[in-house]
Parts: sequence; C-alpha cells; structure tokens
Amino acid sequence: MADRYLSLTATAPGRFLTRRLGLPQPAALRRWSAERPSLDGDLLHLTAGASTLDLMPVLARTGLPPGSSASSASSPLAAVVLDATGVRDVDMLAEVHAALHPVVRSVAASGRIVLLGAPLDPEDHHQAAVQQALEGFTRSLGKEIGRGRTVNLVRLTDAAAAESTLRFLLSPKSAYVSGQVIGVGTGAVTAPDDWNRPLAGRTALVTGAARGIGAAVAETLARDGARVVVLDVPAAERDARDLAARLGGGAGALPLDITAADAGERIAAEVPDGIDVLIHNAGVTRDRRLVNMPAERWSSVFDVNLASVLRTTDALLAKGALRPGGRIVATASIAGLAGNAGQTNYGASKAGVAGLVRALAPRALAEHGVTVNAVAPGFIETKMTAAVPLFIREAGRRMNSLAQGGLPVDVAETTAWLAHPASGAVNGQVVRVCGQSLLGA
Ligand code: NAI
Repeated sequence: MADRYLSLTATAPGRFLTRRLGLPQPAALRRWSAERPSLDGDLLHLTAGASTLDLMPVLARTGLPPGSSASSASSPLAAVVLDATGVRDVDMLAEVHAALHPVVRSVAASGRIVLLGAPLDPEDHHQAAVQQALEGFTRSLGKEIGRGRTVNLVRLTDAAAAESTLRFLLSPKSAYVSGQVIGVGTGAVTAPDDWNRPLAGRTALVTGAARGIGAAVAETLARDGARVVVLDVPAAERDARDLAARLGGGAGALPLDITAADAGERIAAEVPDGIDVLIHNAGVTRDRRLVNMPAERWSSVFDVNLASVLRTTDALLAKGALRPGGRIVATASIAGLAGNAGQTNYGASKAGVAGLVRALAPRALAEHGVTVNAVAPGFIETKMTAAVPLFIREAGRRMNSLAQGGLPVDVAETTAWLAHPASGAVNGQVVRVCGQSLLGA
C-alpha cells in the first residue's frame, strides 16, 4: 500500500531521475502533529481592491507571525492570504497579479495561498464576472504551484464567521485540500473555550468507523475532545470495540447495520442525551459497467450510500436527537462529482449525497440549528484503494495537483473542521479532499 514512488522522489538521485524523465514530482506533505501543530514561517496578508473585512484580529489568532513582502525574500512564507473581496471590475484583477506575482516564489513547501472572495452579486455582472474569475485563477494556480503547496478560495462577508475555516486552511490539517471554493455564510458561530479541544463535552457518532477513513474520523474527533460512538456492522464489532477502547473519553461501539429500517431509532436509543456530530461515513462499492450490472448490485450500493443516509438523518432530525448547534457531515466522492467508469451505481449514490446536503442544509439550520455538509474524498490510501490494480492505482495517485494519494486523516481533519462548533456559518458545502484531482472541476 505504501507509495514507493513518493519515497523515491524524496531522495536526491530519485528526484534527479524522475525530473529528467518528466515524471510527476510529489512533495512529502506536512501534516498536523501534536509536536508541530502549525505551519513554519510568516503569514502575509495582502489586499486587492478596497476591502471592508475585519480580517486582522482573525489572522492574528492563527498564531502565524505577520510577514511583510520585504521579509518574504529572506525567509519563506508559511502562507499568503489575499483579500480580493473588493475586486469589482476587470481592471482590478491587475491588483491580484500585482499582489501575488512577487511573492508566490517565497511561499514555502507545503505552504498555503488562500484567496478571499465575495459572494457573486446577481445585480452586477461585472462584479460576478471577476469574482467568478477568482475561481479559475485559484484552480489554475493550484495546478501549477507544486511543492505540496495548496491554493483555495473562500467566499465570505464576515471574517469572524470564517475563523474556523481560515484556521483550518492555514494549518497543516488541510494538507490534501486544494483548488477548492468554500462558501462561508453569516450563521451563528460559537467560539470554543479551547481551540485545541473544540468538541469537549460533545457526542459524535461515526458510521462505518471500525476501519479506514471512518476510524481516522473517530480518532480525530476524539482528539478534538468528543465522546465518540463507533458504529459499524455486527461483523466488525470486535474492531469497533477495540477502537472505542483505544479512543477512551467514554467512547462506545454500536454494532448495527445502517441499512436496518429502524437504524435511526436504534441510534437515538443508544445516545439518549442527543448527538452533536453525526458523520455518515459508511459506504460500499459494487463496481461493474452498467451492461454487466445486476439489479441487486445496483440497489445494494444505494441502500448503504444514500437511502440509509436519508432515512437515519430524517429519523434523527424528526426525533430531535440532533442537538441545536449540531453538525451533520456526509461522505460523497469525486466519483459522484466527475463520474467514473464501472461506478454508475456508486457515482449516482454519491452525487445523491451532494444533492441531499445542498437541499437539506438551509432547512436543517433554520429548523434545528444543525449544519449539513459533505466531504468528497478523491484517491485516499486505504484497503479499498490498495486492492485497485497497479496501473489504475498509480494513475489515481498521480492525477492530482499534489501528485499523490491522500491519507484517511486528511478526510478526518476536513470532517473535524466541518464538525467544529465555530463552523456554524459553513453550511451546504461539498468540500473535496482530493489534492485537486484532475477528475471533475
Ligand atoms: P472501507 O470499506 O475501508 O470502510 C467502510 C466501513 O463502512 C467498513 O468498516 C464497513 O464495515 C462499514 N459499512 C459498510 N456497510 C455498512 C453498513 N450497512 N452499516 C454499517 N457500516 C457499514 O471504506 P473507506 O475507504 O474507509 O471509505 C469510507 C467512505 O469514504 C465511504 O463512504 C467511501 O465511499 C468514501 N470514499 C472513499 C474513498 C477512498 O479512496 N478510499 C474515495 C471516495 C469516497
């Protein structure tokens, strides 16, 4: 399962050889650890157009020292934030170039460029055109910048409401998130007492958590202070119990097939005090081209990946089992956004998850105070992808801007950001964790 090519390009001869051959140059990504929780280097704050955002206090709280364009020449920058919310016409796009052109080279390996844009104004097609232009810019720069550096765009009107989002994007936790456009609204935001344990006192339930991405999500939410309920099929009960024991903090296991008609009731009974964070992670593939796909294969995928998500969400919301301030994070896939040969059932089910999220999000927030978002993983190094034939696996790994697969923890960190109490203004988003895969936008 190990990515040997990544190890090869980390050596000087390997780098020389692969460069001569014109092969991809993945850089080892800097991920979060308790010992090194922050990026190394300064944070440069630039502006294009006239901004009204009150950004300084929020950026100051990231803990990254403020940099200047002059200092960037001597010490590499950890991150650059370009506030382009005030860009309203084509001429002002020159300011985007003027701001970033001199400093891109100074951004360190695994560094971050975060653009801030305004929501598109339907009354002003010039503003809408140039704000949309920022998306094409973000995605293009993401594809060319290399060295494990990421580029993302956040659309916002209130800097304080975006604090958890900016902290996430400006940290090693977002290592595999690039080329994304994230909308942050103006919903209620609760700053945690302790940003290191934002989920303290909260209960999270993760489906399909005995292994793979779900297990990483459970571990990350527990790290953030949550009491975690590890739900998985009865056949995986031992693994689920072992994980719960490792997590501590009152974690428990719930052996349950999520497709059971009464799964919502069973979950509510298991967590009588209510759930703060509900993670729909359980998912299956039953790949075949449509011409060869029997009806049973087709429907079993929908049952786990979509129908059970709809059913349990409806049941838990109807029972009031999700506490106000709650978070639902469902798991889509880039196969659902871009389509994938042999995965008509899977791709359809995961596109359905994105549809569910977008439609339910405003209502769930208005009626229950609960946000609903999705993560859409790309190629993630798991048992599932280790079983993919070698050449298809290699293509999957390299066909993204970071030229490598992601790790389960990358999906977990993104989930933890969406589950954060201060992420109440992030709602209805489908965020890809795909290293900016070439598949889809
Ligand atoms: P995995 O197969 O390693 O783990 C899935 C877990 O869900 C297993 O523990 C399984 O027992 C559980 N599960 C399956 N059916 C269940 C049911 N009916 N009730 C309760 N639990 C059930 O998969 P992996 O790779 O960790 O994927 C997790 C999620 O991420 C899935 O939704 C998958 O579709 C999605 N995903 C994964 C990608 C990858 O590259 N690994 C890419 C895109 C999406």
